[in-house]
Amino acid sequence: MGRGDDVLTAETLQRPPSGDAGIRQGAAWSVVVTRLRHVYGGHANVESLLDRVSRSLATALATRPQDLAQLDAERRADPDWISASGQAVYTFYTDRFAGSLKGLASRTAYLKDLGVRWVHPLPLLKPRPGDSDGGFAVADYRQVDPALGTMEDLSALATTMRQEGIGLLLDIVSNHTAREHAWAQKAREGDLRYRDYYIVLNDEREVADREKDLIDVFPDTAPGNFTWDAEMGGHVWTTFYPFQWDLNYANPEVFLEMLEVLLYLANQGVQGFRLDSAPFLWKREGTTSRNQPEAYALVEAWRAALDIAAPSVVLLAEAIESLDDVLPFFGSDQPGCDLAYNNGVMTALWGGLADGDATIVRRVMTAALAKPKTGAWLNYVRCHDDLIWNALAAYAPQDDLQRWSNIYGGVLPGFSEGRAFQTAAGGAPSTNGMTASLTGLGRDPAPTGEAAARIRLLYGVIHALDGWPLIYMGDEIGLGDDRDYECDPMRRADGRWLHRPMMDWNLAEDRGVPGTLAGSLFSDFKRFGERARALNEEGVGGPAEPFDAGEPSVLAFRRIEGRRVMTVYANLAARPVVVRQTAGSKVLRDVLTGGIFDGPEVALAGYDLVWLVSDQ
Ligand code: GLC
Repeated sequence: MGRGDDVLTAETLQRPPSGDAGIRQGAAWSVVVTRLRHVYGGHANVESLLDRVSRSLATALATRPQDLAQLDAERRADPDWISASGQAVYTFYTDRFAGSLKGLASRTAYLKDLGVRWVHPLPLLKPRPGDSDGGFAVADYRQVDPALGTMEDLSALATTMRQEGIGLLLDIVSNHTAREHAWAQKAREGDLRYRDYYIVLNDEREVADREKDLIDVFPDTAPGNFTWDAEMGGHVWTTFYPFQWDLNYANPEVFLEMLEVLLYLANQGVQGFRLDSAPFLWKREGTTSRNQPEAYALVEAWRAALDIAAPSVVLLAEAIESLDDVLPFFGSDQPGCDLAYNNGVMTALWGGLADGDATIVRRVMTAALAKPKTGAWLNYVRCHDDLIWNALAAYAPQDDLQRWSNIYGGVLPGFSEGRAFQTAAGGAPSTNGMTASLTGLGRDPAPTGEAAARIRLLYGVIHALDGWPLIYMGDEIGLGDDRDYECDPMRRADGRWLHRPMMDWNLAEDRGVPGTLAGSLFSDFKRFGERARALNEEGVGGPAEPFDAGEPSVLAFRRIEGRRVMTVYANLAARPVVVRQTAGSKVLRDVLTGGIFDGPEVALAGYDLVWLVSDQ
């Protein structure tokens, strides 16, 4: 059974009773209560906080549009929907993909052609003027960036997409606001209520004391974790850029504010939230202030609150941390996030590809099996951020991390054309670059070449794993880096803009043209999605369990919990290899090509992969 079993009684399959009193009867409410008492127990106002939370939930529930309530009922009735294969997500910056929200709506045909089930436009709420870290400095959570459209456009887009079977997933930049947000503005004007929404230290000594334990995220472009602000008369906690002010979740008002934002956007039709920078939500002296127990508890409280007022909405943890710190985001004895980025496996895949050796991927995949069944991994190859080698430090020796960083960052020879990115002292530098450049497509652009084969391999693996595959805009047509970002004063300081190009719609025109690079990749991506969805009917299910296939370059895993077993072999090296497979005398069919394997050997070309199921 999936998330929320205990709340799925016969009566809660209908809409839960509205009104404050009704809300307080359900099991989800008791989770809200325990989590908030745990986090805010010492706070004088915890009971009044609970009153206000229940009132907010009652209002949200009462105003939930009928079609969304219908979706709530459907997903409640099928709690396992989250683990269905092939729910691909497509992620992009709205302006770079489609210009605006209306433009995005007009690209629905492209998205349907690709076959994705979700879209994740990167942050699109009203940002601060000027540099906003790609929209991750929000000035108003209830307005859309005017350059992209309006809240009405967002709602209309959500409806259009929903009718096409595509869910809308939005960032909720919950760890910080822009310095220009009304809360920060009021705080700067001296309003003490709002000053307490942020974390302000009085003197340099205190700052130095805290800095000892903290790790810089952007050590070159934003060194330190505090920013002196004359109007605040203190040092404001700013984990990321100086204009991104960390919120003070020790203040329960902040929790409630953000809950209300979630409820508001959920009722506009948003079907999922990417909880940006989730590990940073709770600060504790003497620690790195990442992945604290309270951060996990707050996420569980949000989850339980949404179970009451908008249960079809999913939460995605953006926690690019060591696997052991990511896993608790799925929840403890109660569900937390429904999804989390599988950054461990993603990073390991790149490492394994550099070495032509699957050992590291097998190791991390084995550890990733500890995920509770209530959640699903978001499997990916690239995203809008840098590739962070250090998040793999618990699973790979420092020498390996450094070597992979050097290979992909262009310091050591190899196929990659990526570049190194800033990283806190002592760590292996992160890497920037599109999938196309990290796989060497610039040097080897042939649709049948090795670089294209690497892209196909990586995306073929992430579609075969359990969980949701994420497609980063442009990878489906082999889109390369944007080397011009350095000419733009607003972007040139942040190397991540290298892999945030404009969509190339001319190139995308080739997607139906056989023999072209874009045509070949697009049809492969499309097929991966279709075949992954077909696995549901084939009866293939359960987590991807890695095993040693006896050939170091071969990543092998099985999914064994359904009616049929699927065995995947992926050759991470350029050299062909033959695997002796152990499935006995069964005749196996490659779901990707329809090819039949009836002997004990499976021959794989360089970078080849097969998804084998038994037809019996
Ligand atoms: C997340 C985003 C990243 C951003 C940071 C601060 O890690 O993915 O792009 O810079 O949060 O909001």
